[in-house]
Formats: sequence, structure tokens, C-alpha cells
Amino acid sequence: MKLVLLGPPGAGKGTLANLLKDALQISHISTGDILREEMKNKTSLGQEVKQYIEGGKLVPDEVVTKLIESRFSSNNIAANGYMLDGYPRTKKQAEDLDRILGDSGKLLDYAIYLESSLPVIIQRLTGRRVCRNCGALFHIKNKPPREEGVCDVCKGEVYQRADDNEETIKTRMDVYLKNAKPIVDYYQAQGKLKEVDADKSSQEVLKILMSMFDAS
Ligand code: AP5
Repeated sequence: MKLVLLGPPGAGKGTLANLLKDALQISHISTGDILREEMKNKTSLGQEVKQYIEGGKLVPDEVVTKLIESRFSSNNIAANGYMLDGYPRTKKQAEDLDRILGDSGKLLDYAIYLESSLPVIIQRLTGRRVCRNCGALFHIKNKPPREEGVCDVCKGEVYQRADDNEETIKTRMDVYLKNAKPIVDYYQAQGKLKEVDADKSSQEVLKILMSMFDAS
């Protein structure tokens, strides 16, 4: 299966990607995770993108597209299928992705659009916590770690992302709303768009998508 996950910040792209990765045995490529790893390791790319991420702005198209291109050209990462999370985020990125995938012979099957309402998004993002070491996702109400501040999976430190404050969430939503429609229209025109109500629990969303894949 070859997928992209679309949807606003906090719609649950990362959460669902972790479930789908196991269910479908495909690679998960998250541009947000890759960029945060670069920031954590204080690489020159990490220093370059920090101001954009912490301000809730988009990193320039050419920077993220280069990352995606190198993932697809190395390690045969997409041999058994893939799922992109957080890319594309602009119509230009969607066009670049088709060019990259066309070259590798691995064109998309579906673009999954996770629809979520603003109150749910705010509640999810302000309560989100992430493991600094392995990236496991938690939520202070929906899915708290067993021991406060400690990751259930690897015992790493659980922290709050710098862009998960109300002011930056608002900027991220504005940026998202400006770019979302052209991407949705792009995949709709290709007949690849599938929409799902992501206000539901992640297990329900998974079930809906798995039955849709089984039926196709
Ligand atoms: P990125 O990391 O991609 O962030 P995002 O799109 O804002 O999405 P989030 O990670 O915030 O949310 P999510 O939908 O994955 O939700 P999650 O599953 O964690 O990007 C960050 C930044 O990097 C961007 O702002 C930009 O600067 C830069 N960037 C990245 N890609 C780029 C690109 N292509 N171009 C340019 N710049 C780029 O869930 C959130 C919380 O809710 C969790 O606590 C979770 O436990 C909970 N939750 C999730 N689903 C459910 C559910 N169904 N029910 C109950 N709780 C749930």
C-alpha cells in the first residue's frame, strides 16, 4: 500500500501512522519527525529549520522535498509500500512528490484526509506529550504515560513540543488552512482522495481505513 496522510495539526496523523505501519507492514516517513531529529542533533539542517518549526511556519518546499527525494532514492525504504505523514503540505510539494514517485515507479494508491474539528485539535495538541528518545506519543488525558514524564516504551523523557502552545497552534492552523484546499483538490482530481472522520478514536479510524483497503 502506498499512502499519504493529510489533515490539520493534531488530526492524529502520527498516531494513525503508527497503527497503520504495524497493520500494513509498510514504511512510515514523517517529515516532522525527520526535521525534529535534525534539530535534536543540532545539525546544520536542524539549525536552519528551527525558526520555522518553532514559529509554526512551513519549512521551504525545496528543503523538505530534498529530504523526501533522498529517502526514496536510498535504502529501498519504500520496497513494501510506504506512508508519508506531513508531506506534501503545499500543492508544489504534491507535484514534486508525483515527479519523485513517477521516477521510482511507486505512485500513490490513496491520499487519506483526516478531518478533525478545531476544539478537538486544540484539546489534542495542548495535551500532547512526546518521548524525546523514541518519539512515542502520549496525551495527558487520552493516553497518559504510566509514570509521569517517563516513556512507557523506552523510559526516555516525555516532553511537550515547543510548537504545541496555543499561539503557535493558531499559526500552524492558519498555515494549514491556506494550503489544504489546493492539495485536497489535487488528489480529488486524481481520484485518490479518501476522507475519514478523525474526531473518532484512533482504533475506529483504523478500522474504517482497513475495511476500505480490504474492499478496494
Ligand atoms: P508535523 O510534525 O508534521 O506536525 P503537524 O502536521 O502539525 O501534525 P502534528 O504532529 O502536530 O499532529 P498529528 O496529526 O500527527 O497528531 P498526533 O498523532 O501527534 O510538522 C511540524 C512542523 O514541521 C511544521 O509546522 C513545519 O514547520 C515543519 N514541516 C513538517 N513537514 C513539512 C513539510 N512537508 N513542509 C514544510 N514544513 C514542514 O496526535 C496529537 C495528539 O492527539 C496526541 O497526543 C495523540 O495521543 C492524540 N490523538 C491523536 N489521535 C487521537 C484520537 N483519534 N483520539 C484521541 N486522541 C488522539
